Amino acid sequence: MAVMTAPPSRAMADRPTPKPGILDIVPYKPGKSKAEGFDNPVKLSSNENILGCSEAAKAAFIAAAGRLNLYPDGRSDALREAVAGKYGLEPERLVFGDGTDEVLHLINQVYLEPGDNIIQGQYGFGAYAIGARACGAEVRFAPEPNLRIDVDEILGLVDERTRLVFVTNPANPTGTWISGAEMARLHAGLPPSVMLVIDAAYAEFANDPAFDDGLSLARDAVNVIVTRTFSKIYGLAALRIGWAYAPADAADAIDRIRPPFNTSIAAQEAAVAALADDDFKNRSLALVERWRAWLTQQLGGLGLDVAPSAANYVLVRLPTAPGKTAAEAEAFLARHGYLVRGVAGYGLPEHLRITIGLEEHNRAVVDLLTRFLG
Ligand SMILES: Cc1ncc(COP(=O)(O)O)c(C=O)c1O
Repeated sequence: MAVMTAPPSRAMADRPTPKPGILDIVPYKPGKSKAEGFDNPVKLSSNENILGCSEAAKAAFIAAAGRLNLYPDGRSDALREAVAGKYGLEPERLVFGDGTDEVLHLINQVYLEPGDNIIQGQYGFGAYAIGARACGAEVRFAPEPNLRIDVDEILGLVDERTRLVFVTNPANPTGTWISGAEMARLHAGLPPSVMLVIDAAYAEFANDPAFDDGLSLARDAVNVIVTRTFSKIYGLAALRIGWAYAPADAADAIDRIRPPFNTSIAAQEAAVAALADDDFKNRSLALVERWRAWLTQQLGGLGLDVAPSAANYVLVRLPTAPGKTAAEAEAFLARHGYLVRGVAGYGLPEHLRITIGLEEHNRAVVDLLTRFLG
């Protein structure tokens, strides 16, 4: 008869040990930022804004240098008013974080206990699962046929222990999206006890009239949170600032565990300035719209499958033949000073994700891949 051995007690261990599950978490792997032999490689690996950021935001950041001795406004009141005014939202339903990343962690911490589960897309952004596992929750991955979020696949995974459903729209790393009508159908199919978290980090880049950023769905629902970031179209990734629009009771709950000074003076003030600079935002969008279409067409012309993207990147599938694979293409591009994102860690070993660059970058990527494919 097999003898059952009890797991060793953490209190009896010879050193402090992380709680169960923590060491099973695979850490988030950011896009590469270094290429051997290049001081300034062209970084198309993290979906940053290739145009930089608004000059007004930069000026606000520099002006904040005179107040490094002061704590920031813990409620981000000026930014709260600016975001609420821009999007027509109730200020008290906004939560600000040290990047969307922190907001997502806080949401997990508020809603999950061991034994609960979250659902996300098969290729979904890694941060949701990390935060959920840290809370002892199970992560369920809904298949994404044709690289698209599938509402029925998500609904099929819901059970009585489901607390959160994360949908990235447009999705990362695929760039694909679901319509406002599909999102509403997903919401309608969820029990009211399940929070639907719509991560709309790339919403500003989606220009199809059928796309919806989720804010109107969230307005009247008790169980929808929309998250947004200043890291992408606003070009403030270094400052780490993002926000959520949540039901009032959820915003209140999140605020109770939010570190009181989680967003800096510089980040808050640069974000206010960025929000007011429509010219920079419009130029960023125009660049992405033009070169996203061009890259999709050119890479398609090389015989590669390109997922239809509504974001500031494209996901392209490389051949499987030795010498032509995604990993080899990534290395080849890096040898020429171009960093793109291998997405094997997302379960897409045959694909590369390429952030839209300036004209010369996009042309160089196509030229290099043409040479690579021979
Ligand atoms: C889908 C998605 N959500 C959230 C984030 C994180 O954004 P932030 O920089 O605001 O933490 C990213 C960043 O790459 C992302 O791709």
